[in-house]
Amino acid sequence: MESPTAVNLEKGEMYERFDDKVAIVTGAASGLGRHILTRLGEAGGRVVAADISVEAGTLVVEGLRSAGLEAEFQPTDVRDSEQVERLVDRVVGAYGGVDILVHAAGVGVHKPVVDLSDEEWDLQVDVQLRGGFLASRSVARHMIQQRRGGRIVFIGSTAGNNARVHAGPHAASKAGLIQLARVLALELGPLEITVNVVAPGLIDTGGLSTAVPSEEYKRAFAGQVPLARLGKPDDVADAVLFVASDRAGYITGHVLYVDGGYSAGKTAVQGHHDAALYGQLDA
Ligand SMILES: NC(=O)c1ccc[n+]([C@@H]2O[C@H](COP(=O)([O-])OP(=O)(O)OC[C@H]3O[C@@H](n4cnc5c(N)ncnc54)[C@H](O)[C@@H]3O)[C@@H](O)[C@H]2O)c1
Repeated sequence: MESPTAVNLEKGEMYERFDDKVAIVTGAASGLGRHILTRLGEAGGRVVAADISVEAGTLVVEGLRSAGLEAEFQPTDVRDSEQVERLVDRVVGAYGGVDILVHAAGVGVHKPVVDLSDEEWDLQVDVQLRGGFLASRSVARHMIQQRRGGRIVFIGSTAGNNARVHAGPHAASKAGLIQLARVLALELGPLEITVNVVAPGLIDTGGLSTAVPSEEYKRAFAGQVPLARLGKPDDVADAVLFVASDRAGYITGHVLYVDGGYSAGKTAVQGHHDAALYGQLDA
């Protein structure tokens, strides 16, 4: 493996640098994927946005290029094996390899399980879980041949571990991503390819994303967050950039929750609870 990622100490802070690293981000036309793509590009990465939304993806990449960053857009439906292979082959052909995959593509289906159609289930599971499988399989095959390690990061969700109503295919697909990451971590570890999940709580993506939760949903969610606020895109990007950097070389098969403590427990359980001490403490 190469030497650890250079860090920028000029401002007295440590920033991961990704100079000469080639990164593919799925779902990069919007929301968290877009922000992660931008942060990787700003940190010196050669970034490739892969998304089904051609217009939005093109605009995002044009914006990065006009800011002087090295970025390109590849229209890709992550559910489609051939399109994913084409994406990865094209990146490896153009840049000589691939170092980082961030799988952030996702769709929102919010319904009780009994009301879901077959198509709705398949759509969310296919974009979020099958897409993660196809993208990581393709990228890992190249990483294995390159023999210079690599980083695979799945964007999970607190729902991968904490069930929520109306989140059947979302929770199931994010739980599936966790186990897929763990299996990959075992299989790819000897080649210094790490595989981790960054699992956000509810993130206020503001104008970045077209996925907008209702005020009622945001209030209810924030009420379960010990840090008493929703997350920001940078909260997630900071975690992704860390696990994607060389500094995180000994972290694999891990789920990193970026959720203000939401996953730590239930804030709603309050009130007095008398407990018996059986005379073991002095009064
Ligand atoms: N925003 C949050 O609060 C939050 C919380 C937890 C997890 N997440 C996860 O983060 C990821 C991004 O979410 P977001 O809120 O930024 O959503 P978003 O809707 O803003 O972005 C999702 C992107 O995925 C793309 N996409 C959808 N189907 C695709 C396909 N078949 N192939 C390729 N691209 C496709 C969309 O075009 C879009 O650009 C998702 O995986 C989501 O589950 C988000």
